[in-house]
Amino acid sequence: MRPSYFVSTPIYYVNGAPHIGHAYTSIAADVLARWKRLDGYDVFFLTGTDEHGQKVEKAAAEAGLDPQRFADRVSADFRAMAARMAISHDQFIRTTEPRHKASCTALWQRLAAAGHIYLGAYEGWYAVRDESFYDEGELTTRADGSKVAPTGAPVEWVREPSYFFRLSAFQDRLLAFYEAEPDFIAPEGRRREVVSFVRGGLRDLSISRTSFRWGIPVPGDPAHVMYVWLDALTNYITGCGFPDPEAPLWRFWPADIHLIGKDILRFHAVYWPAFLMGAGVALPRRVSSNGWWTVEGEKMSKSLGNVIDPLKLIETYGLDQVRFFLMREKPFGADGSISHAAVVLRVNVELANDLGNLSQRSLSLIARNCDGRLPPRGDITADDATLLDAAASLPGLLRERIDRQVFNEALEEAWKVIRAANVYIDRQAPWALRKTDPVRMAAVLRVLADVLRAVATVLQPFMPGSMAAMLDQLGVPEDARDFAALGAPLPAGTTLPAPSGVFPRIVEPTA
Ligand code: MSP
Repeated sequence: MRPSYFVSTPIYYVNGAPHIGHAYTSIAADVLARWKRLDGYDVFFLTGTDEHGQKVEKAAAEAGLDPQRFADRVSADFRAMAARMAISHDQFIRTTEPRHKASCTALWQRLAAAGHIYLGAYEGWYAVRDESFYDEGELTTRADGSKVAPTGAPVEWVREPSYFFRLSAFQDRLLAFYEAEPDFIAPEGRRREVVSFVRGGLRDLSISRTSFRWGIPVPGDPAHVMYVWLDALTNYITGCGFPDPEAPLWRFWPADIHLIGKDILRFHAVYWPAFLMGAGVALPRRVSSNGWWTVEGEKMSKSLGNVIDPLKLIETYGLDQVRFFLMREKPFGADGSISHAAVVLRVNVELANDLGNLSQRSLSLIARNCDGRLPPRGDITADDATLLDAAASLPGLLRERIDRQVFNEALEEAWKVIRAANVYIDRQAPWALRKTDPVRMAAVLRVLADVLRAVATVLQPFMPGSMAAMLDQLGVPEDARDFAALGAPLPAGTTLPAPSGVFPRIVEPTA
């Protein structure tokens, strides 16, 4: 039986249009899902939309729509964005679905039955934008006297009856869990932050609201709706069929990885495991958090008008170019900046020159000099062996980096081989061998075809469309594109289609 692998994205709030931050986590999750499928895993990839809560209710009111109609519309935009970005999720979950309501109700009932929930009253600060409670000490006071959360979100004073989850009782169990599972939180720096936050002591968490209606009713007390984060986090088990232990997808729980943004780490690394511990459900294996994108060095914000629409980006540069840039430009866990100049540089240097030219040069030499057929392997020289060995080690090298979510380093490993292949083709100069030693010329071109095949195979998760085109041009059948298939060389004589460029250069208009 194939091992299973469950990867999730955050579910996105439907208060506004998808932006590059959403696209980023979805693309990273897609790279993981595609990688694991090619590596022999039975994959479950879950994404979707987070539709309840005050923030969505407010956005719907501003749009003059009832919250459900509004959520339907924005959720459809997120679904369309996923399709446009070639996100290969297996399921798109919406928190307004009846099955999710049933799942949250069951989780609440389990927590209540185990004595982890009590009724009290919440009095304190709340930021609707973050859907988060804050302590006085976390806030800063602005010049005009208003208070803001550490995220910059405005806060309001809330006072209402509320159910509480006994989070304070989970401090020791959580600390023991982080200690026993050092890989649970990534990157390492964030893990230390979480551990010290929990060491500092945990307060019980308000998990219901009474001042608005847009949420899942609390079982037995419909004057309350569940706190949107309890509702949202539960999506990950709803997707697997919770609370039915016989559900076919339950075999995927616990999740292998939740990919999230650094701003929502506390919810995933503290509250979520505590809820699951309380309910007696297995804990996810890893929560890996990504840094934030800024635009030309500035924070993205509606007021600055610099929010990047992923669809426009794709229109301008091409889908695989954007996927590549986002995964290549910065370490997953770190912050980074998007700028037009940086995208052009990556596309022109790494895609058009390094990879595009290598494949175009090699394949057109084969087309012209080998009758458009894959040449046979010849005697392997030391130079050939070095390059072939480097190519053969790619799946292992990338796997190790992808399992740590350092996607930029995974790509660097592939580029080391691509750059070495460019040096090799210049040194071997197969074009010059055509007259002097055609057998050696064929052998060199075959080495290049094999190296390109390995490179294109491991890059499929990052750039699915263009790498499929490259593998077509290399004559690799569709059922021989996974990592295991790399062990079996293609038969010499395979007819190759006419080569055509995969990555055009971006030509800037001259001023
Ligand atoms: N609904 C919650 C998640 C619930 S998961 C159980 C939520 N939604 S969100 O739509 O506001 O944000 C989704 C993701 O987008 C977060 O992981 C957040 O970090 C990410 N990003 C939002 N802006 C971003 C950037 N500028 N750059 C990178 N990612 C950012 O939070």
